[in-house]
Amino acid sequence: MVRILSGVQPSGKLHLGNYFGAVKQHIALQIEGLCFYFIADYHALTTIQDPQMLRDNTRDAVLDYLALGLDAEKSIFFRQSDVPEVTELAWILGTVTNMGLLERAVSYKEKIEKGIEASVGLFTYPVLMAADILIYRSNVVPVGKDQVQHIEMTQDMAGKFNRAYGEVFPIPTFRLDKESKVLGTDGQKMSKSYGNTIDIFAEGKPLQKTIMSIVTDSKTVADPKDPAQCNVFALYSLFASEAEKAAMADRYRAGGMGYGEAKKALLEKMDASFTPARQRRKELGQDPSYVEDILRKGAQRARAEAQQTVAQVRKAVGMNAKSVG
Ligand code: ADP
Ligand code: TRP
Repeated sequence: MVRILSGVQPSGKLHLGNYFGAVKQHIALQIEGLCFYFIADYHALTTIQDPQMLRDNTRDAVLDYLALGLDAEKSIFFRQSDVPEVTELAWILGTVTNMGLLERAVSYKEKIEKGIEASVGLFTYPVLMAADILIYRSNVVPVGKDQVQHIEMTQDMAGKFNRAYGEVFPIPTFRLDKESKVLGTDGQKMSKSYGNTIDIFAEGKPLQKTIMSIVTDSKTVADPKDPAQCNVFALYSLFASEAEKAAMADRYRAGGMGYGEAKKALLEKMDASFTPARQRRKELGQDPSYVEDILRKGAQRARAEAQQTVAQVRKAVGMNAKSVG
């Protein structure tokens, strides 16, 4: 069975961009193969150096995924750091990785420009990511465009390792997440760093306030409007059926409907879509031992796979297959 793997940085509240750009596809892929999904908390250390924040964000990411439909019976869902073998593989892969390869990493440069400290960990981030992918002998890695270069680096490392030591790793391919750029309340790309997000698990008054703050042009209620130019319509379209979209577009063009009304329709759609997940998330939040149990089982399954690969790797490079202990 094809192995699908993806890691999620525990970076705070999920917004509609994250959902339509990544999470929704991750959930849907569960029927296409054996999925390994994990919360990348080792990676998060390159930006979060507050233990409480790391714990909280990790828990939030776990609850988000479970509430949105990750099936822990079907998929292997775990915290990256519960499988410490991955750091051992990262070390070994580092020895077949050219400095030049890492120096070309766009994401590293962008992070430095944003003011993130240029730590060794940040620099070798792609090596740990390659270890994540290779340790579970993954075939397909669903990612956003910004991560494609990291997968190409993984292919490079796996190829070099295989040429040096024999065919140990399948060469993974990436699967580009849907290229739909969701725009935020201000019309720029929705992103935490722009403060323009609409959060999936927001509800009630705060959600209403956010939706009402979506920027539109200054046409009056009576004016005919162009749906293709309106972000409220674009967001509504993410939730609506083709027929609903067409009906809404007609109302835009006809005039007589204000943006306030369109925003209300968007709010209703969003509530209808996410109410069950919000409910589920609350229930899960009240049952930490159940959630911990899911993660423990996920880590057990993941770790068994990881240990097999590491044993093979250690043997291939000339070490004892098993580390002591
Ligand atoms: P943010 O920009 O809010 O920090 P992340 O970089 O953590 O978001 O993104 C996590 C995932 O969500 C990535 O796979 C990314 O491609 C996807 N994603 C984020 N924002 C959007 C967006 N506005 N439209 C589509 N996909 C997005
Ligand atoms: N770097 C990825 C991101 O920021 C997260 C990640 C870590 C990942 N390890 C991975 C994604 C392995 C895919 C495969 O989104």
